[in-house]
Amino acid sequence: MKNERSQQKAEKNKPMKKTAKKSTALSSRAVAAQVILQVLDEGKSLSSLIPDVQVSLKTQDLPLLQEICFGVCRVLPRLEQIIQCLVDKPLKGKTRIVHCLLLVGLYQLLYMRVPPHAAVDEVVNATKTLKSDSFRGLVNGVLRRFLREQESILAQVDKYWQTLHPEWFVNKLKKAYPNWRDIINANNQKPPMWLRVNAQQNSVESYRTLLAESGILAETDLHPQALRLASPTTVQKLPYFSEGAVTVQDLSAQWAAALLEPQNDEWILDACAAPGGKTTHILELAPQANVIALDVEAHRLKRVEENLARLNQQAMVVCGDATQPDEWLAEIGKSAVQFDRILLDAPCSATGVIRRHPDIKWLRQETDITQLTALQKNILKALWAKLKPNGILLYATCSVLPEENDEQIRTFLSEHSDAELLPLPFEGNVNDDKSAVGFQFIPQENGGDGFYYAKLRKRS
Ligand SMILES: C[S@@+](CC[C@H](N)C(=O)[O-])C[C@H]1O[C@@H](n2cnc3c(N)ncnc32)[C@H](O)[C@@H]1O
Repeated sequence: MKNERSQQKAEKNKPMKKTAKKSTALSSRAVAAQVILQVLDEGKSLSSLIPDVQVSLKTQDLPLLQEICFGVCRVLPRLEQIIQCLVDKPLKGKTRIVHCLLLVGLYQLLYMRVPPHAAVDEVVNATKTLKSDSFRGLVNGVLRRFLREQESILAQVDKYWQTLHPEWFVNKLKKAYPNWRDIINANNQKPPMWLRVNAQQNSVESYRTLLAESGILAETDLHPQALRLASPTTVQKLPYFSEGAVTVQDLSAQWAAALLEPQNDEWILDACAAPGGKTTHILELAPQANVIALDVEAHRLKRVEENLARLNQQAMVVCGDATQPDEWLAEIGKSAVQFDRILLDAPCSATGVIRRHPDIKWLRQETDITQLTALQKNILKALWAKLKPNGILLYATCSVLPEENDEQIRTFLSEHSDAELLPLPFEGNVNDDKSAVGFQFIPQENGGDGFYYAKLRKRS
């Protein structure tokens, strides 16, 4: 907080700069307000909206749009409280776009290195693009009043520590973790960028050298293929990215293929595969394996195809429902196949990756969790029937909620006497829970995302 305020003061004292790219920057702010409106009022995700709007922006404006949209979602309750201090009558209905523009303006003033008065001008001008010219005066007045009174407004808003998360989720965390505040704090940070080095092409050390030659610094980790970049960059700047030398993948997610231990010539199902981050990892470790990459969302499977092509790998990409394996196995003429290994990276609440997708906090509802756990249970049951005796099923989620993780697997074990739990090579389960059946990663500031793994073998 202190840093933000002193930075703010320093910015105020700088001479105002007129930016040469005024018109394009203006459109980024208007587009950001439109995107935020669709997240908050229509329940759409940033990852579905941003690829669609980015075509209407100049390439150089994309980082600004992303910073604003992700940033606003990260700190939304704080910005909302500031607006409450400054606007007498809530901006509802058709004027919600103006409310979202105020969120954009306040985010810029508080969190971005933009000269404050220039930022205000840009946001005020965006009212025109948004056909809300009549609110020009209001936006100008609110943002300038904030600049004048920010010390007292922030003293009021920041009187108590704010989780910046929905209450239902905080309550669930409190119930599950004595150190729940660590998870909240990690979720409120910007995530590090992790790379997975393609073991078929380079060692981690040799790729790290290639990065260094391009002026990109990276750290190694316990995971044999992982590198953490000192600061995030675009994939175009990564040496040999288009030749498949590396994949952008979080550290915790990189454990999936390693724990699955895929072998050449085996039949392997990646059951919820899109966009294919783990499918390609499986094939890096076992290039001759017979891999089926299944997903229920046809449009998401395009990304699997693209990733396979970039890495020059082959898999059977199948659109189908993991709860109905007989249907799609028959459709592809593989009814007789029983799998040696199954990766079930299950559809989940994604509460372990909030720092990467802060909109999850506002999109996810408590009632979703019950539906998701029911779906996970159905998929587990259906796929278990397709596993060979002695076969391995790795269950994974990017959730931190016990009902999707340890509780789910405990129930599964109690209902399947032919399921045997295998140990995982990690020490110190979260909460030091000796009765834990799987391993729960929680998000770490310079580490991986929140992730869960449990490894099961089918008794013969
Ligand atoms: C966590 S994401 C998978 C991420 C992927 N494994 C990766 O590493 O790139 C979960 C996926 O499950 C898919 N999904 C949801 N319900 C499904 C179902 N009934 N059958 C198959 N896939 C499903 C979603 O479309 C989504 O792509």
